[in-house]
Amino acid sequence: MQSFFYLFTRYLAERAQSHELDWDRIKSPSADKVVPYDQLPDITDPKSLNKLAVLKVNGGLGTSMGMTGAKSALEVKNDMTFLDLTVRQIEHLNTTHRVDVPLILMTSFNTHEDTLRIIKKYANQQVRITTFNQSRYPRINKETLLPCPKTAEDDKGKWYPPGHGDLYNALVHSGVLDQLLAEGKEYLFVSNSDNLGAVVDHKILHHMVTSGAEFIMEVTDKTKADVKGGTLIDYDGSIQLLEIAQVPSEHVEDFKSVRKFKIFNTNNLWINLKALKRIMESDGMELEIIVNPKVTDDGQQVIQLETAAGAAIKHFKSAHGINVPRSRFLPVKSCSDLLLIKSDIYSLAHGELVINENRLFGTTPVIKLGDHFKKIAQFQKRFKKIPKIIELDHLTVTGDVYFGRNVTLRGTVIVVANEGQRIDIPDGCVLENRLLSGNLTM
Ligand code: UTP
Repeated sequence: MQSFFYLFTRYLAERAQSHELDWDRIKSPSADKVVPYDQLPDITDPKSLNKLAVLKVNGGLGTSMGMTGAKSALEVKNDMTFLDLTVRQIEHLNTTHRVDVPLILMTSFNTHEDTLRIIKKYANQQVRITTFNQSRYPRINKETLLPCPKTAEDDKGKWYPPGHGDLYNALVHSGVLDQLLAEGKEYLFVSNSDNLGAVVDHKILHHMVTSGAEFIMEVTDKTKADVKGGTLIDYDGSIQLLEIAQVPSEHVEDFKSVRKFKIFNTNNLWINLKALKRIMESDGMELEIIVNPKVTDDGQQVIQLETAAGAAIKHFKSAHGINVPRSRFLPVKSCSDLLLIKSDIYSLAHGELVINENRLFGTTPVIKLGDHFKKIAQFQKRFKKIPKIIELDHLTVTGDVYFGRNVTLRGTVIVVANEGQRIDIPDGCVLENRLLSGNLTM
C-alpha cells in the first residue's frame, strides 16, 4: 500500500501541473541507440548463460479473449499451454548447454493459483521455477478519486494488478532480486508470458555482456497492425519509452504513423541485476504513470494507475534497443493469432515455434476472424478442428460461421454470413480462392 500511496500522490501532483511531454522535443533515437540484430556476432557463452535468469510477466488475464483465468494457462499448441511451452524451452536450454537457467514467474492475485496448478507437474524436471506475486492496488473512483475497496478483504473486482512495471518493486519486496544475486545471477531476460517468440537468444546475451549495457530493449519494425505499441525516443538526449497513453491527443495520429516511429517495444527486456539493485537502493524506479480507465461489472467508472516495465530504460546506463526480427515477437492477442499458432503453419521444436518448411517464402497468412470468434469459448465451438492453412494467404470470416473437420483453406478465402444467417463449412471441404456468403449449408 505504501507503493500505491506513492504512485497515487504522484498522480495527483502531475494532474495539478499538467505533466505532458513537449512534442517538439521528441526525436527518433540516434542510430547507435538501436543496434540491428544482424550485426551482432553469433557467439554462445555457457559462462554467461549460467549468470542468466528468465522471467515471464504473468499477472494479466486474457480478458480481451474472454478468458477469466491466466492467459498463460490457455492451451495453444499440441495440448500445451504458454507456460508448458516456456518450461520446455528452458529445459532444452539447460540440458543442451548444461547450465542452470531458472524460470521466474511474476503472478498477480488474478493468476497465482492457475500458475501454481500448471507448474506443479514440473517439480522434478530440469528447470527450477520460482513464482512471486506482484502488488494488488485499489481501483479508484473516477469522479471522487476515492479507493473502491473499503477493506483489504473487499471484492476482487475492486482491485487490480498495476501493470508489468510493478516488476521492479515486486522483485525487491518478494526477496527474489536478492535471491538471484546471491545465486550469482547477473542478467535477467524478461518477456510477456504470451510471447512465444521470446526465447533466450545467445547473440543478445553476448552483446549484453560485452557492451556493458545495463538494459536492452528488443524492438522490432512496426507494421500497420502494431500502431499502438510503445516506441523508443530520444528526449533531451536521454533514451525513453513513449507509450500511446502519454501522447497528447492532437499527436496520436503522428505517434501511430509507421513513417515517424519505425519501431516498437516487444517487451523483451534484458536487465543487469546489479544495476537494478543499485537503482532500487538509490534513486528508486520512478516510471511514467499510465492512467487506464475501466468500467466495473456494476457500471462504475474507475481508473487504474499502471506502469510499464520498458519505461525503466531511462534509469540504466548504456541502455539501448536492439532491432530484432519479427519472429521474436509472437504474442497471442486475439483468437485470430491463436488460429495461426495452432495451425500447420507452425510446428514445435523443444517448445519453440518454427515455421513449417513447406510454407513458401516463410511468411504467415493474414487472418481476420470477426466478432463471433472473439471469445475463446466461441472460437473453440466454431472450429471442430483447426483447418489446414499451409497454402493460405488471407482469410476473413464474419458472422455465424462453423468449420468442420479436415477443412483446407488456400489462397484468399472470405466467408461472410450475414445477420441472421449461418454458414457451415462441412468436414473435408477444400476452399481455394473462394468467397462464400449468404445462408449456406454446403
Ligand atoms: P498487457 O496486458 O500489458 O498487454 O500484458 P497485452 O497482453 O498486450 O494486453 P491486451 O491484450 O492489449 O489487453 C502484457 C504482459 O504483461 C503481463 C501479462 O500477463 C502479459 O504477459 N502483465 C500485465 C502483468 O504481469 N501484470 C500486469 O499488471 C499486467
